[in-house]
Amino acid sequence: MMTKRVLIAYGTRFGSTEEISSKFAEIMRNQGLDTTVINVKKDKWPPLDQFDAVLIGSSIKIGRWTKEAKKFLKKNVEALKEKSFLAIYVSSGDASYPEKYQEAKEKYVQKIITDLGFDLNKVMHEAFGGLFDMSNTSKIGWMEKKFMNMAARDDESANLTENEYNDLRDWDQIHSFANEATTRILQL
Ligand SMILES: Cc1cc2nc3c(=O)[nH]c(=O)nc-3n(C[C@H](O)[C@H](O)[C@H](O)COP(=O)(O)O)c2cc1C
Repeated sequence: MMTKRVLIAYGTRFGSTEEISSKFAEIMRNQGLDTTVINVKKDKWPPLDQFDAVLIGSSIKIGRWTKEAKKFLKKNVEALKEKSFLAIYVSSGDASYPEKYQEAKEKYVQKIITDLGFDLNKVMHEAFGGLFDMSNTSKIGWMEKKFMNMAARDDESANLTENEYNDLRDWDQIHSFANEATTRILQL
């Protein structure tokens, strides 16, 4: 059996989606998949015909995907429709909270899938939670950090601590998704 080739293409602003994507790659490589990971803003886009499976991820900022990840999706719609395995995911602050998770998944993931004419039942998809890094080493801008610290102080339900590294991602959910994707790809 030929080794299956997987492309993981992600857009990130502060590193959260990048970490999720790297974790996917690690899990897939450990299970024998030939996995390529690209940051769609920084890296060259490889031709999609080289891959058996494609996963595309983005972070959400003010309700939007990263510009490049959206572009990558749009530009490759036809090629992606030919793939036997496609997965689409986001890292979104809202998805961190049980009461907001479903809406975040619909708004940030499912809507894009159906808008582009994909069959929702055929595209594996998920909304993962977010990283709110308000520590000294944070990549988030000072103004944005200030707003997050305000939320941490004033909104108890935000579940954030001021000036700290707040990882609200569910790493079990991330592992499960990667394992399920790997199983499906190995069966192609
Ligand atoms: C300026 C800013 C705006 C954000 N806007 C949203 C938003 O509209 N909806 C949401 O669910 N999360 C929002 N978030 C949370 C991010 O989606 C979350 O921090 C995510 O993990 C960032 O991923 P990245 O590091 O890959 O860019 C926002 C975060 C920042 C810093």
